[in-house]
Amino acid sequence: MKHLTDIFTETELAGMSLPFKDAAAPPATYYTSADLYELERERIFLKEWLWVGHAAQVAKPGDYFTFEVAEEPIVVVRDLTNKLGAFSPVCAHRGAIVVQGQGNCRSFMCPYHNWTYGLNGKLIGAPTMTETKNFDPTKHGLTRLKVDIWEGHVFVNFDQNCKSLATFLGDITRFVKNYDMGNLACTGRKEYDFPCNWKMVAENNLEGYHVTGTHGGAGEYSKIDHWSIIEGRGMYDILLGEFDEPLSMNVPGNASAPTSMISELTEVEQKRQYFILLYPNMLLALQPDSTICYVMLPQGPHHTKVIVDWHYPKSILDRPDFATIDKANVEGVDGFNDQDIRVLGLAAKGYKSRMFRPGRYSVHESVVHRLAQYVLARIEGHDAWKAKGLSENQSASK
Ligand code: FES
Ligand SMILES: [Fe+2]
Repeated sequence: MKHLTDIFTETELAGMSLPFKDAAAPPATYYTSADLYELERERIFLKEWLWVGHAAQVAKPGDYFTFEVAEEPIVVVRDLTNKLGAFSPVCAHRGAIVVQGQGNCRSFMCPYHNWTYGLNGKLIGAPTMTETKNFDPTKHGLTRLKVDIWEGHVFVNFDQNCKSLATFLGDITRFVKNYDMGNLACTGRKEYDFPCNWKMVAENNLEGYHVTGTHGGAGEYSKIDHWSIIEGRGMYDILLGEFDEPLSMNVPGNASAPTSMISELTEVEQKRQYFILLYPNMLLALQPDSTICYVMLPQGPHHTKVIVDWHYPKSILDRPDFATIDKANVEGVDGFNDQDIRVLGLAAKGYKSRMFRPGRYSVHESVVHRLAQYVLARIEGHDAWKAKGLSENQSASK
């Protein structure tokens, strides 16, 4: 089994582990090592609560949808008794993926040799297997995953011994409750390819240091003094934007006044944007007129697929100009992503250079340091992350 000391030198580990203002930024192997990527898959993505979709996708009995995180396929389903479930759709016969896409059905039939599973994951049909000695169908169901819903978002966990989703989320609800996320409508999804390690995308989303340099054309929006970090009490951190007037991301490469507000927001919230990183790989962007799910899906150490879902209050959907609003919003995210993809591609190239040496953090990059502490801690029980103080008595409902 690989250890951190097989990947990093003692000096690199010591530099990364220092308190934030003393610490060195991560070495290149943090972003390029195939061994580290495999450890992250095993000890982070197979252990944490992972965002996979929306409750509306499994509203009725028989509804299902599939998703894939860190190259692990997942199916979420509402069974015929209305019970929510999640499974690995890897066939218990010889491994084919039994279901893809989304829809409504009464069972899952593997396309390879037609083994059939009920929506509760149990094997209910297996052609000719009665002639196989000692074959017990009850031992060959789909592997069940933990699943839970929070504010309309569906999360799964591969680890049967994990803490509850509420424990994972800590006190996050106090920041998001007025956004009424459980009642927003998802209007579309778009995929983006980032030519870099998933942690680079996560870091980039939670540090305001790059907004002036990378998104400098975005006026007030890109001024560093509008942005600050809130350290979450739970598995999240927040990049908070505070403005004099309400702003939204609905002009490409720029920001402008929102067209319609989410009705429950306070005056303070109307002038804020929250970029909430739910560790490890989900960014929830809350703005006055919409919310965005921005999910980073590792595809190996050098490549990240990002999916973005847009959510609006149903009242905005009824506006005659909704298509124009939505198009502008999507193009706004396209513009920011284009700019981020460009600089992250340059950084990925730099990390592959033999000339790269770890740099130092600015005061605005504390989450980059925190993400590194988190990764080290999850992989090898490193102490630093314990300060996050997750405990069973914290609850998402508070
Ligand atoms: S692999 Fe699924 S039925 Fe054979
Ligand atoms: Fe950015």
